[in-house]
Amino acid sequence: ADTLGSAAAGQGRYFGTAVAANHLGESAYAATLDREFTSVTPENEMKWDAVEGNRDTFTFGAADQIVNHARSQGMDVRGHTLVWHSQLPSWVSGLGAADLRTAMNNHINRVMGHYKGQIHSWDVVNEAFQDGGSGARRSSPFQDKLGDGFIEEAFRTARAADPAAKLCYNDYNTDGVNAKSNAVYAMVKDFKSRGVPIDCVGLQSHFNGASPVPADYRANLQRFADLGVDVQITELDIEGSGTAQADNYANVVKACLAVDRCTGITVWGVTDKYSWRSSGTPLLFDGNYNEKPAYDAVLSALGGS
Ligand code: G3I
Repeated sequence: ADTLGSAAAGQGRYFGTAVAANHLGESAYAATLDREFTSVTPENEMKWDAVEGNRDTFTFGAADQIVNHARSQGMDVRGHTLVWHSQLPSWVSGLGAADLRTAMNNHINRVMGHYKGQIHSWDVVNEAFQDGGSGARRSSPFQDKLGDGFIEEAFRTARAADPAAKLCYNDYNTDGVNAKSNAVYAMVKDFKSRGVPIDCVGLQSHFNGASPVPADYRANLQRFADLGVDVQITELDIEGSGTAQADNYANVVKACLAVDRCTGITVWGVTDKYSWRSSGTPLLFDGNYNEKPAYDAVLSALGGS
């Protein structure tokens, strides 16, 4: 029988999942992960608070566990994430502008340096734009103290730190064509025209009743790809159950396969049991690691059986 990973590979894509280090010791979790997936993203273990809770003291234990597991299985690793306003230690928020710039670049250099050559793609900057219709940048220590240029600076630093890694900008509510994705689009276009290093755009793709799979999802993936970057579906989960959920998952997979530069899909967790949506069932395996209708729909959309 095919797996998600083998079927995706048949289409020239990877199929990944977010992984939490503290579940790797659970045999059914590890068995499902190892059988089905060809890429992993640490769910929290590479975030700033996890790796540099105190300035210049780096703790890679939990992230290393995931990277070592993935490498022993021949899986790719997506690095998540270097510069983000959330899960940011308070010492960072307290710095003045000059010091913050130094700390941001040091953080990128040290974390990317630790994993140099081992990361397929890095989410260099995460969620830097506001929701709503303004298309404006989100307030954050980086934005407020360093201004718009912090994103470009982060990408330039990242390119030098690990030239082999693909450098991604990653965000949510940018899955369809809307004011927020237009703002990201304009930034990527500007970066490409000025030679600022960027290789990929991550569309998180957290979907639910209030935020369904957009009708123009494929068109949005395609317009980013047409700028000359890869697109990756980076944190896919879809609320619901049964046929409706399965159909939505199939539509997402088909949209990716219709776009040459959509290089892979990552779901945001292995099992409903450990989803960040604590009361939801948005993933492909239920709490007992049974394949859901959504699993069958994804496998079939990938051409597997
Ligand atoms: O590890 C601490 C633990 O020491 C502490 O005792 C406990 C008490 O609250 O918290 C634990 O940390 C939690 C962490 O997950 C690890 O389980 C945090 O509270 C909790 O807020 C954190 O949630 C994560 C969330 O990002 C934080 O923003 C979710 O697991 C993770 O799935 C979610 O992932 C994000 C992506 O990084 C970015 N895009 C959106 C996506 C979903 O929110």
